Amino acid sequence: PRHFALVPAAGNGVRLGSQTPKQYLPLAGRPMIWHALSVLCRQTRIAQVYVVLSAGDAWWAGYDWSSLGDTLRPVFCGGATRAESVVNGLAAMAGELAEDDWVLVHDAARPCLSPILLDALLNALADDPVGGLLALPVADTLKRAHAEAGSLAGVADLGGQPNQAAPRRCNMPHGAQAPRVAATVTRDGLWQAQTPQMFRYGLLRTALAAAPRGVTDEASALEMAGYQPRLVPSELRNFKVTYPADLALAELILAGSR
Ligand code: C5P
Repeated sequence: PRHFALVPAAGNGVRLGSQTPKQYLPLAGRPMIWHALSVLCRQTRIAQVYVVLSAGDAWWAGYDWSSLGDTLRPVFCGGATRAESVVNGLAAMAGELAEDDWVLVHDAARPCLSPILLDALLNALADDPVGGLLALPVADTLKRAHAEAGSLAGVADLGGQPNQAAPRRCNMPHGAQAPRVAATVTRDGLWQAQTPQMFRYGLLRTALAAAPRGVTDEASALEMAGYQPRLVPSELRNFKVTYPADLALAELILAGSR
């Protein structure tokens, strides 16, 4: 079976107003999405790298992608949710893929994926009939916050934060009430799901078609269909850039791995 990558990058920037969509925010001299695409395109076991962009994407054409080689396939068929963008991307790839080919779905907002982690995923799942995902065993003690005062609504993620904003020292908004602990959640056996999530094309397409359009990752769709995806141990560096302060951390990691 062959391997294909699919990068959903059709976040339409609604939360950003007229600001730069997250996947195009400048990071280490490139648009954020370039970094993950670069790792995927350099992996010779991956035949083609599809990027799902929104139909009205005015940013993609503004950059030169030629350094990424000839396996890159931009498709302008993004949907209203991440899951819908993935479904549309799979449809756009359909002519190329056999049922047991692999699809690696990777977030544009995880720019610090490394070739080593990608190799680890490919190797761990090579003989698996279903697939799995990069994931990180939870290291911290976990607290559930009381719902009323504890909502994180006041914490601005990148979606609510202008690109040009001054660097923030922490993610606690000024004047916000720190929520109270409702309970401690045992972390035994808990993992944080990352991407790439790598599944057989036929299973992934069928599972996503049956899953609610709001599922936030591919593995949940496979789980709902009765499968048990494998958790492949990852590293903290493959985190999802979410808060403004995360950009500086991603820059540090990328600078250290050059
Ligand atoms: O917003 P969030 O970080 O969860 O988005 C995860 C990924 O899904 C991003 O790469 C984003 O561009 C993509 N996405 C998409 N289509 C949507 C919404 C998000 O491809 N409708």
